[in-house]
Amino acid sequence: MNVLMVTSECAPFIKTGGLADVAGALPGALKPLGIEVRTMLPAYPALMPLVARGTEVANFGDLPGGAGRVVQVEAEGITLLLLDAPQLFDRRGGPYTHEGGQDWNDNHRRFASLAQAAARISFDGLADWKPDVVHAHDWQAGLTPVYLKQPGLPVPKTVMTIHNIAFQGRYAPFEGQQLGLRWDWFTPEGMEYHGDISFLKAGLAYADRITTVSPTYAREILSPRFGMGLEGVLNARQEVLSGILNGIDTDAWNPATDPALVRPFDATSLAGKQANRAEICARLGLDPAHEGPLFCVISRLTEQKGLDALAEAIPHLVENGGQLAVLGSGAPELETAFREAAETHAGKVGTYIGYDEGFSHLLQGGSDAILIPSRFEPCGLTQLYGLRYGTLPIVARTGGLADTVIDANLAALRAGTATGFLIDEVSATGISDALDRAFSVHAAGDDWQRMQRAAMSQEVGWDISARAYADLYKEVLTE
Ligand code: ADP
Ligand code: GLC
Repeated sequence: MNVLMVTSECAPFIKTGGLADVAGALPGALKPLGIEVRTMLPAYPALMPLVARGTEVANFGDLPGGAGRVVQVEAEGITLLLLDAPQLFDRRGGPYTHEGGQDWNDNHRRFASLAQAAARISFDGLADWKPDVVHAHDWQAGLTPVYLKQPGLPVPKTVMTIHNIAFQGRYAPFEGQQLGLRWDWFTPEGMEYHGDISFLKAGLAYADRITTVSPTYAREILSPRFGMGLEGVLNARQEVLSGILNGIDTDAWNPATDPALVRPFDATSLAGKQANRAEICARLGLDPAHEGPLFCVISRLTEQKGLDALAEAIPHLVENGGQLAVLGSGAPELETAFREAAETHAGKVGTYIGYDEGFSHLLQGGSDAILIPSRFEPCGLTQLYGLRYGTLPIVARTGGLADTVIDANLAALRAGTATGFLIDEVSATGISDALDRAFSVHAAGDDWQRMQRAAMSQEVGWDISARAYADLYKEVLTE
């Protein structure tokens, strides 16, 4: 079976969040199941060296954003189909934003072009390959199922995965005309959304199957609180909606072989964590002689992640003997709050504002626990990395966090199944309560180490979920 993935990010080539990790790992996990994936991705500046050594497999003169060609190249075990349209993608800045943080004002044309190139390839096929299923990720790929909507013609089946419903790709309707979208699709059942066009809603309306990245989130988004305005279309399409939990790349994230660690370790001996902790302390100016637990944060600094509430709980964390290491970037007010916390609590709180893949591995390697107090979390990957590195996750009871972390209640502690701590309410008080429970288990020593071993033995790879995607593709193909 052939599957075309359509995505705006893919690790290790271009990453702003978990979507990249998923797009980077899923093709390799599907391969042993007989599924050949090719991945359509914009040729951002970081991809241009790969474009130079690839082979042109398609050329379009008239995508919504002008001309573009598709270049195929193998890299890091992935068959990439790069959309080479320099006027759209070969620019300084992020995949979605200027260096200043503002969205590019032609994002609708950029990602409509990605979706249309993917649809045209899917429809016509390449010389040696044609997809049976097209799998579109998030709003950036949301128009793919729409462009593939050709009544009466045999087109590939489509799957739309929601990684984050907060980003909906919403644009004024007149933009739609420039994107080659038909007016008769501009309906409340189709891509119309409060008088605008929503790329994500379009994908949800026209895809054959909808998935999101955890079973709990699949239920949550049916409610107004989590559906963010799209609960109506999701309820209407409930019978084709399912949740498939993300896995992680257990080779890239392996504490026994991770080159970003100063000392590797595994579940039989966690002593190596100490050396990694010392390195974190050195890099962030934390007191190396401190004996209490070291908590970390590795995150986009946004409202979603509940880090404003965490910032308020920092005095409690410090007064009770904890240290905190923060790696993240995003909202200026949160960057300021964590920078100031590092000044106020010198030696106890350390902040690095920025994006640093290697340092994120080191933090997982050397910390005792990772804090993820998200207001909503479709899946979350950092808690899975934490489990794998014996860095106990302290997480909000929502979405994929609730599906992957077993709370250290008394029964779970006794049974030896606990792997982390669940926060019941995302507020300074709720976080402080969870911290208190973590402090008391940490002080007990043995229980904490048992939890670390339980965490490290949890199955967090892609095996089960890759099979779930394979089953879904097979199911949709039989229709
Ligand atoms: P989201 O996709 O909502 O940001 P996830 O937990 O699914 O959340 O994925 C976040 C990914 O981005 C993880 O791989 C995490 O390690 C990484 N990450 C987040 N912030 C940073 C940062 N400042 N530096 C390095 N990696 C980061
Ligand atoms: C999104 C979500 C995150 C999820 C990731 C990968 O960015 O916020 O929870 O893990 O996508 O699916």
